[in-house]
Amino acid sequence: MSACGMSKPAVAMAVFLPMLAAAAANEHQVLVPRVVVVTAFPPELARWKARLPLDDELPFPGGAGLQSLAWNGSLQVLAMVTGMSSKNASLSVTALGYDPRFDLTAATWLLAGIAGVDPMFGTVGGVAWMQRLVDGTVAKYLNEKDMPQDWETGWIPTNRDRPYGLPPQSPGARAGSVKLLAPSLVQWAHSITQFLKLPDLEEFQRVRRHYAPCCAAAAQAPSVEMGDLLATDVFWTGPTQASWARNWTSYWLPAGGDVWDRKGVFAMSAMEDFATAEAIDALHRSGRSRGLEALLVLRAASNFVQPWPGHSTGASMDFFLEPACEAAFLVGSEVVQKLVPAGAPRSSQAIDIDV
Ligand SMILES: *[C@@H]1O[C@H](CO)[C@@H](O)[C@H](O)[C@H]1NC(C)=O
Ligand SMILES: *[C@@H]1O[C@H](CO)[C@@H](O)[C@H](O)[C@H]1NC(C)=O
Ligand SMILES: *[C@@H]1O[C@H](CO)[C@@H](O)[C@H](O)[C@H]1NC(C)=O
Repeated sequence: MSACGMSKPAVAMAVFLPMLAAAAANEHQVLVPRVVVVTAFPPELARWKARLPLDDELPFPGGAGLQSLAWNGSLQVLAMVTGMSSKNASLSVTALGYDPRFDLTAATWLLAGIAGVDPMFGTVGGVAWMQRLVDGTVAKYLNEKDMPQDWETGWIPTNRDRPYGLPPQSPGARAGSVKLLAPSLVQWAHSITQFLKLPDLEEFQRVRRHYAPCCAAAAQAPSVEMGDLLATDVFWTGPTQASWARNWTSYWLPAGGDVWDRKGVFAMSAMEDFATAEAIDALHRSGRSRGLEALLVLRAASNFVQPWPGHSTGASMDFFLEPACEAAFLVGSEVVQKLVPAGAPRSSQAIDIDV
């Protein structure tokens, strides 16, 4: 007996019982998001927090973004900052998936961020719902100075000996380099947003005018499109690498190769998309997510991936960070409002362009 008259087991129980009670209370508090908004860095998150709004901050030390999660319990919408790059995206999404505070099995994922756009595809301030994600990072590489003279590029598929090497990649090999998003979900998101009028700023018009001689799509006003994304961890730019991006995308996405049933068209370039999809796929295998069936990828063009004709590649490129974040929020939030519980209050759609 100890001096205070309590036996050892009694002391242990006295300490243990409140812990059990706390654990039981936490179980009741498991949050069940309907939508998880995935962003890579704080500017992409800001409008979701301020205007959906997502007022509750939940600490998230296990993520690489070093930012709190943003949550709205009545809308059941959660938003995260993964940190830039593929590794930060996959580790942050995985950390969220195994976080005991959340049950993500009902969630639709919306990756919403900025990207570089191919002027052959679209224009700055425009957005695209992605149909397929192609990995552009895992490859063999020979420096241009070391490669055979008749090659157009030093980037080679890992299982081939020359660029775009034949025979065409088998479906099994493609599965490692291509993520297919679900046509019904992507087409639905596009159908309810395609007529939205996107902000068309004077700065966009000033830049896109220069592209008219080469690229009709770049010279149009911003719009809501669908396309294929190439994910790399390199901020590349310039006409040669853009040509590679088009070729690499169509190489991995041959006509008739998948449910989307058309040859790949490189639309936009970004970092986190393939890795995010990979992590969501793995969460699906472990029963923690609905998987790619429930993934939407929306990219808004902040810049072109190549300069206009006659403009040098080394020169600084126009970069419209805030306007692209605005376009991603305007289009993405329209879809999120349709995914949240019926009867949830609708946030004001007031357009407040902060540029
Ligand atoms: C959740 O969203 C609703 C509707 O926009 C809003 O009225 C409410 O203040 C938000 N709550 C939090 C905690 O963000
Ligand atoms: C990835 O996350 C780490 C940890 O937060 C950070 O230091 C790093 O800068 C991030 N990488 C990029 C490319 O932002
Ligand atoms: C892309 O393909 C076209 C057509 O085959 C070719 O002319 C061009 O050099 C290729 N570009 C690169 C960088 O591989």
